[in-house]
Amino acid sequence: MNYNKQIIVALDFPTEKACLDFLKNIDPARCRVKVGKELFTRCGPALVKKINAEGYDVFLDLKFHDIPNTVAGALKAAADLGVWMVNVHASGGKAMLDASREALNYQQAPLLIAVTVLTSMGIEDLSQIAVINTPQQQVQVLASLAVNSGLDGVVCSAQETDFLRLQCPSDFQLVTPGIRPSGDSANDQKRVVSPRLALEQGSNFLVIGRPITQASNPSEKLDSIIQEIEA
Ligand code: C5P
Repeated sequence: MNYNKQIIVALDFPTEKACLDFLKNIDPARCRVKVGKELFTRCGPALVKKINAEGYDVFLDLKFHDIPNTVAGALKAAADLGVWMVNVHASGGKAMLDASREALNYQQAPLLIAVTVLTSMGIEDLSQIAVINTPQQQVQVLASLAVNSGLDGVVCSAQETDFLRLQCPSDFQLVTPGIRPSGDSANDQKRVVSPRLALEQGSNFLVIGRPITQASNPSEKLDSIIQEIEA
């Protein structure tokens, strides 16, 4: 199997220059990229268009969560930027997910992914917002909601892929952050999984940031991760 494009590099840079300098070393045929809230809020849609025009598939990770009409409009605006993948919070509810699907219900629309429970939230955080489920139960509830509304997949922890793979349709995309190649620092991630194990456990796309963006030679680092996966 060709794993080149299953790696999504998280472009967590504070400036447009830092981002574009980094991308000079990264071949768009070897990976996809993710633009999150920090870079988007600083540099805006113009940078997304620029990255897209350079040939990168962009996952616009803005995790929309609002009333259905507003989310639908935001998703259409994101699609107009030409991005490859967008996401919303599944906890926005069925009506919001249905409106999201309807807004992006055409061929060539970006993949529409839902966030279930943020991996930063534990059982106590859930009880503080009156959710009595465990994180795993809540992930299962929200993933079902996403499946039922016809979304294309979910962002989840690599620890959740085993049961989600059984619960969700085989073409449902599981996108997992918290990935660390063997020997790399976990940084602030609490539970990390190697790229190879994540794919073996059913992940479709691996979001990897600092191990690549902060490497002395990012292009070589990307190659070494691809080799680690293919070995
Ligand atoms: O540098 P690192 O590989 O830890 O970056 C992971 C990326 O995935 C960051 O952009 C982070 O915001 C994102 N992410 C995450 N955990 C989640 C959801 C998103 O680490 N649950």
